[in-house]
Amino acid sequence: MKTYTIAAIPADGIGVEVIAAGIEALDVLAEKAGTFRFRFDRFDWGSDHYKSHGVMMPADGRDQIRNHDAIFFGAVGAPDVPDHITLWGLRLAICQPFDQYANVRPTRILPGITSPLRNVSGPELDWVIVRENSEGEYAGVGGRVHQGHPNEVATDVSMMTRSGVDRIIRYAFALARTRPRKLLTVVTKSNAQRYAMVMWDEIAAEVARDFPDVTWDKMLVDAMTMRMVTKPETLDTIVATNLHADILSDLAAALAGSLGIAPTANINPERTFPSMFEPIHGSAFDIAGKGIANPIATFWTACQMLEHLGEKSAADRLMRAIERVTADPNLHTPDLGGRATTRQVTAAVIAAIRGDNA
Ligand code: IPM
Ligand code: MG
Repeated sequence: MKTYTIAAIPADGIGVEVIAAGIEALDVLAEKAGTFRFRFDRFDWGSDHYKSHGVMMPADGRDQIRNHDAIFFGAVGAPDVPDHITLWGLRLAICQPFDQYANVRPTRILPGITSPLRNVSGPELDWVIVRENSEGEYAGVGGRVHQGHPNEVATDVSMMTRSGVDRIIRYAFALARTRPRKLLTVVTKSNAQRYAMVMWDEIAAEVARDFPDVTWDKMLVDAMTMRMVTKPETLDTIVATNLHADILSDLAAALAGSLGIAPTANINPERTFPSMFEPIHGSAFDIAGKGIANPIATFWTACQMLEHLGEKSAADRLMRAIERVTADPNLHTPDLGGRATTRQVTAAVIAAIRGDNA
């Protein structure tokens, strides 16, 4: 029997609750499949680790997880630690060195969930956002001088490389090709940003030649927000820079009903390093410890993890279980306007997995 070793990093806030729920569901899926199992190694890194050790994870942290098959990540961020420390100290400290350059964010309106968009009930909104995840506005290039003085200068330089742009656009075209509509929208801002974004557009046109069966178009990011709201049915696969996709994916999550549902996968397509799977929602300290966090985003990212591991039928089974549960409003957590608890939703998903003999 195959054993997948998974590095579980629940980290902060509700990350702890949703990762525990995800592990439970994954173990039941493995048991049901009977052909593989999981070994979860839990790493207690995050803001508490920072408060007691001065670092979000140990210096050899990456070495400890480098050989795992995947990373199952909760959320980072604490009210009493600056956000740039928690983020750069753990999440980006894994994503960037492990070259997880493709951040994949599927969005759909699941059964039983109401979109804030009038006349949109489900099929009109079925997107995958591919976010450049290694450079651009998050390159970490910049600095501050003359701090606190009136002449202080601060820069965050968005840095784009030809190889970095080429590989993400190529990944997006290849993904678009696997989807029924074979439709890709390349988001840009080359009207205002006349160097890197112009290169981005040029590379998109070059790569497109290798994918003649994919229909593609180009969209300025500001106009893109309108199109997502007014003509969601015209979109399918979307590729955008790190920051543009960060913003668009929150909009997408809201249009699909709740951030509590939205999953993400940080993929190293070459598989030189493990990929990392996480819910998009943050640590949500306002509801941490109350047992009401929505575990659906974590279950959905677990589907992405199973697909990445090559366990497609287990991924499909988990997705069917998720959809059965969201279809029942009695099983909606408060972010969806319901009163269900993390426990109840998890138990229902597990029951649906056990009862699924497809
Ligand atoms: C996301 C989040 C992060 C990001 C935050 C927590 C820094 O918003 O995954 O979309 O901007 O990358
Ligand atoms: Mg975001």
